[in-house]
Amino acid sequence: MSDDIADIGWEPAREANRANWNDRVPLHVDAYGLDAFDDPEHLSDVVRTDLVALGAFLPDGVAGLDVCHLQCHIGTDTISLARAGARVTGVDFSRPALDAAAALADRLGLEATWVESDALEARAAVSGDFDLVYTGIGAICWLADLDRWAAQVAALLRGGGLFYIRDGHPMLDAIDETRDELVLRYRYFGDGRPRRWDEPGTYIGDGTVEHTTCYEWPHPVSEVVGALIGAGLRILRLEEGQTLPWRFAPRMVETDGGYQWPGIERDLVPCTFTIVARKD
Ligand SMILES: C[S@@+](CC[C@H](N)C(=O)[O-])C[C@H]1O[C@@H](n2cnc3c(N)ncnc32)[C@H](O)[C@@H]1O
Repeated sequence: MSDDIADIGWEPAREANRANWNDRVPLHVDAYGLDAFDDPEHLSDVVRTDLVALGAFLPDGVAGLDVCHLQCHIGTDTISLARAGARVTGVDFSRPALDAAAALADRLGLEATWVESDALEARAAVSGDFDLVYTGIGAICWLADLDRWAAQVAALLRGGGLFYIRDGHPMLDAIDETRDELVLRYRYFGDGRPRRWDEPGTYIGDGTVEHTTCYEWPHPVSEVVGALIGAGLRILRLEEGQTLPWRFAPRMVETDGGYQWPGIERDLVPCTFTIVARKD
């Protein structure tokens, strides 16, 4: 269940989100299929897809690069980037998520640095500069202020460094996912106020959380692009995709690379956006 507009400040909303995300960690450790990483060749589907997209800008891949992964969650994508040869730093505001990520990396014998920080304060918390700042797959909807977020991204990058995001398209978040047809119900455009969710479940598995309330902010594509340009980054690519790595609505159908709307609905609404930008 969700209300479209909640009047709550950033800090109380963020703390509600943190409690909710902390509760999701053990559920996701059980449901994400972490055993697959015991195969030393295994990379997450997300990173496998993103490495192909990044190939146009990084023909030698991420090997040897310093990569900062913002909102890294339990580290499956961060660890996949490490397996692809990057020196990785994963940043998240959830201590349990980082503990789970560190435990997985240790079990697999992979080097990684894990930093507990709000994404909007990441520059002050993380040491060093990066060749690639990487984020996405359900990341920026949790952040109220994209100008502040983009400033962190720009400050984390070395000159010449790349920013990469593939995230849920904001158009998707305007859809009522419970209906059996495409119905627009929620705001595409934001005004600084979040949408409040009260849900016992999470997007994978059947487990339930104790802290059921969380807050998400709508950010139209123009706001994301504008924030990155405003932080001094040059946009190299903007794409919209029709396949999502998670089942946003029960009606979505499973495909090779994730989930899509059924039939012609696939062409009616975007599921993801991808942006590649450079700090000159
Ligand atoms: C949907 S997950 C990201 C998905 C991730 N790519 C994965 O492995 O599936 C969102 C992550 O953002 C984190 N998060 C939410 N708000 C945050 C904030 N303000 N600062 C830092 N991390 C935050 C959560 O703890 C969670 O790990």
